[in-house]
Amino acid sequence: MKGIVLAGGLGSRLYPLTKVTNKHLLPVYNKPMVYYPIETLVRAGIKDILLVTGGNSAGDFLKLLGDGKEFGLTHVNYTYQEGEGGIAAALSLAKDFADGEKVVVILGDNVIEDNVRTYLERFKNQKKGARLLLKEVPDPERFGVAELKGDKVVGIVEKPKKPKTNYAVVGFYMFDSDVFKIISTLKPSKRGELEITDVSNVYLRRGELEFDVLKGYWSDAGTFESLFRANRLVARKAGIQQ
Ligand code: DAU
Repeated sequence: MKGIVLAGGLGSRLYPLTKVTNKHLLPVYNKPMVYYPIETLVRAGIKDILLVTGGNSAGDFLKLLGDGKEFGLTHVNYTYQEGEGGIAAALSLAKDFADGEKVVVILGDNVIEDNVRTYLERFKNQKKGARLLLKEVPDPERFGVAELKGDKVVGIVEKPKKPKTNYAVVGFYMFDSDVFKIISTLKPSKRGELEITDVSNVYLRRGELEFDVLKGYWSDAGTFESLFRANRLVARKAGIQQ
């Protein structure tokens, strides 16, 4: 399966940290943020990776990651997203790279402790559709939130004011090759973006959406609070007293 790291967008919620550099190059404890999603994919056995970047300092990704040797890769693919058209817009740039295969997509600001290999194996055995990871969080209104009935997802709402559950959708998505056709039918949301949540809801309406509940810690790092939290989680795991 091919892997896609989405590291576009302007990181405006972290201004002025993102005034002169790209959000995904900021440190999370002892590594640049973008290392974490790449390592998550590599740990799960993904070898063919596309990095979609955008905004400031895009050239620095080349300098930082090079051909991916440091991660045990033989090469890394790169592309550039103009503007901030949304996560699904960034993903649409990966169509040629995917070349009709299933893909696994991870957001460039997501830090995941668990090894996602098991979930990928389950998706490999899934005939078609999509597979998501959910995680219980204390602040679901910041995320895409899954509405559950028994053990079924019956809806996903992006940043609901009154979340129906505490289950956030993790920034890690497994899609079959239909995803690009689905993105081409999307309309921009109120915030002017092509939303990844809308993609998942199309699969849900087709009855082709499965999910797992993620183990271990998970944090995004796109706001001051969550960046601080991600730093603390990683440092604690490294045995740093706090
Ligand atoms: O972290 C998980 C959450 O990520 C999900 O629960 C939400 O459903 C999903 O919409 C997303 O929410 P955010 O509002 O936190 O996403 P944000 O705009 O911060 O973008 C997250 C990453 O996606 C960002 O680090 C890089 C990538 N991205 C984002 C945009 C808007 C792009 O590559 N291009 C973009 O245009």
